[in-house]
Amino acid sequence: MKNKFMIDKSLIQTALGVEKAGMAIRNARLVNVLTEEIYPADVAIKGQRIAYVGDISHCTGPETVVIDAKGKYIVPGLIDPHIHPEACKVPLTRLAQAMLPRGTTTIFAGLDDYWSLFGIDGVRFALDEAKKTPLRVIYHPYSRVPVTGFDPASTVAHEFGSEAIKKVLDWPETVGPMDMVIDWILGFDKDMHESMRAVQERGLLVHGHDTFEVGPRMQAFLTTGIRSDHVPFAVEEALQKLRAGMWVMFCDSPIARIMPDVIRALTETKISTRHATFCIDDMDSRDLFDPGHIDHQIRTAIASGLNPIQAVQMATLNAAECHRMDHVIGSIAPGRSADILVVGDLIRFTIEMVVSQGELVVDGGKLLKELEVPKYPSCFFNTVKLTREVTPDDLVMKTDGQAKQVKAIALHIPPYNPMRFKKEVTLKVINGEVQPDPENDILYCAMVERHRRTGNIGLGLINGFNLNGGTIATSVMVPSNNITCLGSNKQDMAFAIKRVAKMGGGQVAVRDGKVIAEIPLPIGGILADVSSEEMADMERKLTDVVHSWGCPMPRPFFFLMFLEIVPLPDYALTEYGVAEFKTLKYIDTITEVIK
Ligand SMILES: [Fe+2]
Repeated sequence: MKNKFMIDKSLIQTALGVEKAGMAIRNARLVNVLTEEIYPADVAIKGQRIAYVGDISHCTGPETVVIDAKGKYIVPGLIDPHIHPEACKVPLTRLAQAMLPRGTTTIFAGLDDYWSLFGIDGVRFALDEAKKTPLRVIYHPYSRVPVTGFDPASTVAHEFGSEAIKKVLDWPETVGPMDMVIDWILGFDKDMHESMRAVQERGLLVHGHDTFEVGPRMQAFLTTGIRSDHVPFAVEEALQKLRAGMWVMFCDSPIARIMPDVIRALTETKISTRHATFCIDDMDSRDLFDPGHIDHQIRTAIASGLNPIQAVQMATLNAAECHRMDHVIGSIAPGRSADILVVGDLIRFTIEMVVSQGELVVDGGKLLKELEVPKYPSCFFNTVKLTREVTPDDLVMKTDGQAKQVKAIALHIPPYNPMRFKKEVTLKVINGEVQPDPENDILYCAMVERHRRTGNIGLGLINGFNLNGGTIATSVMVPSNNITCLGSNKQDMAFAIKRVAKMGGGQVAVRDGKVIAEIPLPIGGILADVSSEEMADMERKLTDVVHSWGCPMPRPFFFLMFLEIVPLPDYALTEYGVAEFKTLKYIDTITEVIK
């Protein structure tokens, strides 16, 4: 029950000095996020929780293990209130090994890919795995899998909706859901309204997804009790949301390095920051090491002009309050979980020690504890199920045999924004086959369904990746994790898809019939049991190959991951083809046939 606050007799006795603390931190400068002060204070810890803060001489004894903070700062363990940890492509144990040295002691995790691939048993397995680590993983269920829930839909192995949420809400690790999309609620989607009712009946909170929204739609969304939004892309958007009572999660992420600009909503206005916090939402494993997790958000916010105490407060107390868990986590105060960082330099936010749930787990930046990854059950493997091998012919857009050219819509993705915009193109046709135009960066994109052997393959045209004859394929794809491939050579595309299928899932860069770099992801096609460092290394190598071909996107595979999300403007690719955000209809991407 470590996520719930329970009365503890031993904690009372320790605070009173009747019992002695198991651990103490002395010679510390407390960053008190409750009062926004910094002053000298010692901390007495009993078991997993804080017993006393201040002069602790009455509650320590010879048996108390003392950590000497040597005059450095102590701050609460960092909290990520909104994350999809699967994007790091490693199991939660491996993630804990990498996150703890960066000061993260609690994450609120959507685990939507665990659900979509393995169902309720998969999520339960992940939470039980996390329990054996010093990282507190709170289940913050993704509202719906697949994310559209209606046409245009995607095929997933397991669906999640109002019935599923009722099953998981009573778990001790579960808080209200994340990513409730504004269109579902304002569009009176029956199942999502039912989900909200189930959550609200239990006194829990629903967190939203309404990026870019301001004015009447945003405030209408707030009338339903929506607690938070992530991530604001503009100062005015953040300001309107904060003023209207929405909690706002700021983020400097691999998708958009926008913090220095958007944080001006706080720094320039000098408004209260108490309903602002940070999150990462999605990141690669490499981001954990450079530039970091929530520690990076703190550094960036401070470098952008935010007061350091407020930056720390946003990453701790505010995140806890956003989830109404500030009585358990988020501050260094009696009764709270003993999640405490020793920080040498507050501005550069250099973390030297980490105490998590009363245990010293990091010293000198190094993890002190061996963490064992549990054996994953066999159902987590061999999840790529195809009706038959995909052939080059399956990947060709066909049109009238007499046609010489077609006018078509390609999905243009800019280098620093994963949205897909309309690009009108004219392409050659040979023997009824629409030809990609790699010289002008018009490539084929294909999505191959891989859960229920439907044989569905959605085809489209894409612009922005500039692969110059190279091919990439991945089975990491929100929400279906179907195999998605981009390229201009149908033989290489079929080869890349076959390679991903053979690995049981993964990511691959192929050229001229050869694998140039790859990341095998045998657990569900989304995870590999390797360290986060090893995963980061593979991510860099794979990305370097694609960059060497001329791709301008900092993170091509990361951008590709969102291609299927229909609620993102303006187009998406699903296993049924290209869908339009505005109309929620499939479109024929060939708009004119020229004979
Ligand atoms: Fe999210």
